[in-house]
Parts: sequence; structure tokens; C-alpha cells
Amino acid sequence: MLLNMKDLLKTAYENQFAVGSYNVANSEFVRVVIEAAEEKNAPAIIQIHPNEIELLGDEFTAYVREICQRTSIPVAIHLDHGASVQDVMRAIRNGFTSVMIDASHASFEDNIAITKEVVQLAHAVNVSVEAELGTIGSNDNSSEGGADEILYTDPQDAKIFVEETGVDTLAVAIGTSHGQYKHAGKPELKLDLLQEIHQQVNIPLVLHGGSDNKDEEISQTYLHGVSKINLSTDMKNAFFQEMRSFLTENQGAYEPDVIMPSARNAAKEVVKKKMDLFNSTNHA
Ligand code: 13P
Ligand code: ZN
Ligand code: NA
Repeated sequence: MLLNMKDLLKTAYENQFAVGSYNVANSEFVRVVIEAAEEKNAPAIIQIHPNEIELLGDEFTAYVREICQRTSIPVAIHLDHGASVQDVMRAIRNGFTSVMIDASHASFEDNIAITKEVVQLAHAVNVSVEAELGTIGSNDNSSEGGADEILYTDPQDAKIFVEETGVDTLAVAIGTSHGQYKHAGKPELKLDLLQEIHQQVNIPLVLHGGSDNKDEEISQTYLHGVSKINLSTDMKNAFFQEMRSFLTENQGAYEPDVIMPSARNAAKEVVKKKMDLFNSTNHA
């Protein structure tokens, strides 16, 4: 069942759980997420980053839409980190039900202006919009990028930003980074800051950089307004680690139907664990 983000996140927001939003960089990951969602009876979001669209082509979205329409689980197709109005329009034209406009590196005023423009365009065709205020950190070779220095979201700015733009969901910076953490130990999330933002803003919040955090911190975030958690690295890592060891042990292997299943299962196990961690299991 294909929904837009606003409709999909409504129950999550009201019932204090988070829907995982998984970066699918090929059809294997689409199957991984949908099968995990069906087995866990958990809503899910399929998100595609512009770099991934570049790899896959626009036609890929039609394939994803078809799969999303066939499942009885509530799902959305979301553009991850759209960088421009062009990215957003291209995604909408290709059937995304939700888009992110990430103008978090622009000035506060410019971020408001471009987000407002995207909201007007997207809402006219029932597509929901996520924007970002503050900046998520960046680690190793994550394709999602991010800033070297995290700029934490200011709660008062967040309130103004949401009122001015009419955005449906807001990505906040409370200490997470894209990818795996370079330095020893996982980061401390500013959960007190999250609570302050949640008090100022009455729309679902989004946590980027969902991989490689402390489970006990992640399970606090959806008690304080986070209804969507982005997850890429942990799932992809499990997939390619398994594929790497399979290929090392089976030097002559070349058939996809021989190579893929174990990698797919490894990734699926990670996604199912995340669904439990986000408390989205049995909430479809
Ligand atoms: P991770 O790679 O840390 O899971 O972050 C994913 C993300 O935020 C995509 O937008
Ligand atoms: Zn992100
Ligand atoms: Na991360």
C-alpha cells in the first residue's frame, strides 16, 4: 500500500514509534526491505538518494512503485537529500510520494525560501516534504555526505522554520552522522535538545545517520517526536560483508541466484532487528 509520508507517519507520531527509512541502492535492497516489513508486519519507507538514482536510472522508481503497490504493508517512496528544486521535480514526475529538500547548508533565510517553494510544488500533487535544519555529521565514504562539524538544530529556529515553510517533517541534528563513526566509540546524542525541539515543533521529526548508534539512545528518540529514522550503512554493510566472505569462500561463483541469497538474508536480518529497535514491528 503506497502512501505519502504525512499519512504514513501519522500513527507512528501518535503512538511513539519510528518508521525506518532505508536507502535502497538496487533491487536487492528493495526486496530486503519489503520482505522484512512483511515478516515483521512493520511499516517501512523506501528512500533513494540522488546518487543512487544516478546509478539506477529514473525507470527504477517505476519498479519500486509496482512492488509498493502490491504489498499490503504501508510504504512510502521517498527522495533522500534532494539538493534542488530540479531533483524534487524529477522525483515527483517519476512517482515518489515524498521528497526531502536539503538546503541545510544555505543560510536560515535561504533554507526557508527554497523549502517553502518545494512545499508549494509538492503539496499541489499530494507529495509530502521533509526539510533539514542544522547539519548531520559525515563519516568515511557514506554517499549521503554531511558536514565535518555538526551544527545542532536550534529549537526556536525550528519553530519558526516549520511555521514559515509548512513542511511535513523536519530532520534535526542532535549528534548523529552519516555512515560509521571514525573515532572510537559511538556518539552521545543530545536527547535533551531533542526534547526541547519536540516541545517547540508539532510535526514528526526525522533522525538521519541511524546506523552505528547506541541502541538505548535510539529507543529514546521516538519517545520525543522522532517518527522516521534513516538507515543506510548498517544494512548495506551486512549485505556486502556477507557477499565478500561468500565470494572468498566460493572463488568460482558467478551466478546471481547462488551469490545473492546469503547477502540478502544478512541484510534482511539487520532490517528486521531495526524494526524491533524502532518499535515499528506489528504496527503496519
Ligand atoms: P546511515 O548511513 O548512518 O544509516 O545514515 C543514513 C541516512 O541518514 C540517509 O539519509
Ligand atoms: Zn541523511
Ligand atoms: Na550513522
